[in-house]
Amino acid sequence: MAFQRVGILNIGEMGYHWARLLASHGVEVLTCSKGRSEVTCRRAENAGVRSVPSLASLVSQSDLIVSVVIPSAAKRVASKVAKALLKVEKKDFIYLDANAISPMTAREMGREFARTQAGLVDGAIIGSATRLNQGAVVYVSGPEAGRVRALEQFGFSVRVLGGDVGQASAFKIVYAGLTKGLQGLFVELLVGARKLGLLDEILGRYEESFPGLVQKVGQSIVGLPVHAARRAEEMVELRRTFRHHGLQPVVVPSVGKLLRAIGDLKAGSASETGTRKGSLAETVELFFQMGLLQDQRPGKVVKSAGGIETNTREGV
Ligand SMILES: NC(=O)c1ccc[n+]([C@@H]2O[C@H](COP(=O)([O-])OP(=O)(O)OC[C@H]3O[C@@H](n4cnc5c(N)ncnc54)[C@H](OP(=O)(O)O)[C@@H]3O)[C@@H](O)[C@H]2O)c1
Repeated sequence: MAFQRVGILNIGEMGYHWARLLASHGVEVLTCSKGRSEVTCRRAENAGVRSVPSLASLVSQSDLIVSVVIPSAAKRVASKVAKALLKVEKKDFIYLDANAISPMTAREMGREFARTQAGLVDGAIIGSATRLNQGAVVYVSGPEAGRVRALEQFGFSVRVLGGDVGQASAFKIVYAGLTKGLQGLFVELLVGARKLGLLDEILGRYEESFPGLVQKVGQSIVGLPVHAARRAEEMVELRRTFRHHGLQPVVVPSVGKLLRAIGDLKAGSASETGTRKGSLAETVELFFQMGLLQDQRPGKVVKSAGGIETNTREGV
């Protein structure tokens, strides 16, 4: 099955790059931007995506719908598409959920789609949105996963993980723990290094000890001003997955908390063309200046034996 018309929900950073790659291979790309932000609507225009007025219209005009939203919205979006499918009685159609969600959420979607005549494929994208045809891989699982291989003719790399819905999500969510964990650890250490006045020295030493790591993790830290809240949601999904399987994660919730704190800074605004700006040093400086990790509690004034007063926050 070759996909001639592909629906994308929604045109965020990842959706933008999917749309561009598909369009460059002659595929017509559609979306339904109803209710979405101005920046998402602009990105759709900039990517040359045709916006249709309703999900029913999107479903009836597409051979494949790809969901690239935020983890907390993935199930709701899938549910709306499943309802639209029932309404238009569409057959021979694939819904690819490519969000970083727990395998439990993916299986819930699978049960909802079982009532339709369409196939749900559990998916996960590993790699940057900007490098979709240069190293990124779309992992898929589920009974119909093999059909997504048709995307390879448009420059995507597709790997089938197995025949069960949930396999691709489990794989991605554990992988996401590493990338977000490294980002969280780096941000915390580099803000600390900035405070101690040794940022350049420590970055140089990290590079000597772990060649390539600073650049690799740094690239994703640059995206945090815009994407931290979404990445924090991925850590919620990972924590839920481990808990569901009887594990008590320790590091993952802390990473989620730090990413949420970065998201709360509202330090960046989303690009209309799916691009990222800034360097690692600029991003660390931004977080530092915005007070990330700063202890807001007032210090206690203590008197030493010699009568000297010291604020506990400054006097160490
Ligand atoms: N960006 C990457 O490099 C990358 C890499 C690997 C995997 N991914 C995966 O791709 C997915 C999207 O990431 P992204 O970077 O494109 O995120 P993004 O830039 O934040 O875009 C998210 C999109 O989802 C829409 N959205 C938010 N809440 C929604 C809701 N309740 N219902 C429907 N749509 C909603 C947003 O619209 P509004 O503007 O209206 O909020 C926006 O268009 C994620 O699941 C992520 O794990 C991304």
